[in-house]
Amino acid sequence: MAKIILTGDRPTGKLHVGHYVGSLRRRVELQNSGEFDEIYIMIADAQALTDNADNPEKVRENIIEVALDYLSCGLDPAKSTLFIQSQVPELTELTFYYMNLVTIARLQRNPTVKSEIQQRDFHNSIPVGFFTYPISQTADITAFDATVVPVGEDQEPMLEQAKEIVRRFNYIYGDTLVEPQILLPENKYCLRLPGTDGKAKMSKSLNNCIYLSDSSEEVRKKIMGMFTDPNHLRVEDPGQVEGNPVFIYLEAFSTEEHFKQFLPEYENLQALKDHYTRGGLGDVKVKKFLYAVMEDVLAPIRERRKEYEKDIPAVLEILKQGSIKAEAKAAATLHRVKQSMKINYFDDQDYLDAQAKKFAEE
Ligand code: TRP
Repeated sequence: MAKIILTGDRPTGKLHVGHYVGSLRRRVELQNSGEFDEIYIMIADAQALTDNADNPEKVRENIIEVALDYLSCGLDPAKSTLFIQSQVPELTELTFYYMNLVTIARLQRNPTVKSEIQQRDFHNSIPVGFFTYPISQTADITAFDATVVPVGEDQEPMLEQAKEIVRRFNYIYGDTLVEPQILLPENKYCLRLPGTDGKAKMSKSLNNCIYLSDSSEEVRKKIMGMFTDPNHLRVEDPGQVEGNPVFIYLEAFSTEEHFKQFLPEYENLQALKDHYTRGGLGDVKVKKFLYAVMEDVLAPIRERRKEYEKDIPAVLEILKQGSIKAEAKAAATLHRVKQSMKINYFDDQDYLDAQAKKFAEE
């Protein structure tokens, strides 16, 4: 069976370093591994609209931001098909058929949808489109026969739901859809990078994100202002590394190579953590190291972004061509689905003959 990747992001803002360690970095590695037959990376604008119906401008403006983030991280349109969800109408049609295979009670149990509903203060006015987006996400995944879906931990319930729909579809209509596997980050610190303020999640509204598109100076300021151990007041004091965002970022970003290059007096992160825990290591020194590490990662991304920004029409053309290619693939799947459901009337000579015969005999 072909090895196929599908994943994507909602274009509701620029992507930040949490997206990078949680998913983007891995995608680029998978892309360059050469192990996959097809790779689809989707800008999920239709899903973004499920809770932004009154703000289409926000979604529209962020398409190009997300595309630039993708390309600058190293996603290569020669190897990965980058496309826009709304430009593949087959996804909507698949969603409509899958809706019959899911109960309201099942959707209500989806923990990600549950917590998102709470976060968004929908109260009793939850848009139906938002409530049902796990079904549409199943269409996204199955339309491309995806075998592997690299995503963050919050997407686990979506993949569970997708597998259930696939099994139910195949059980009722015969083997048609491919069951996807989730691929989570290997490093547990990458599952959910905290904000620079130490809050559990990076979020635009909390103003605690480091964006992939931030300038070197912005990154420096954000890192130097980061929350650390509030009880680590003097350099001599013992510090705590657990839950300390500076150390969590180091877990997610630093390599032994970085220590050799920028902080050779420590062999590795463990040695640095031990010193911090004992006392005698100041936050400023650790933050300066983190800045050097993050710059090592972010500077090449920033450079590539600058190049792509010089030719925005070319970036839009990449999305257009990707969307055309994606639509062809989704159309083939939809055709198969309709065949299995036996609603492909005009392609089905047996059906046409049988209907004609039925009335001729009466
Ligand atoms: N829900 C994903 C997010 O929050 C975006 C997305 C839409 C997606 N469809 C998908 C991810 C299919 C993986 C597979 O960013």
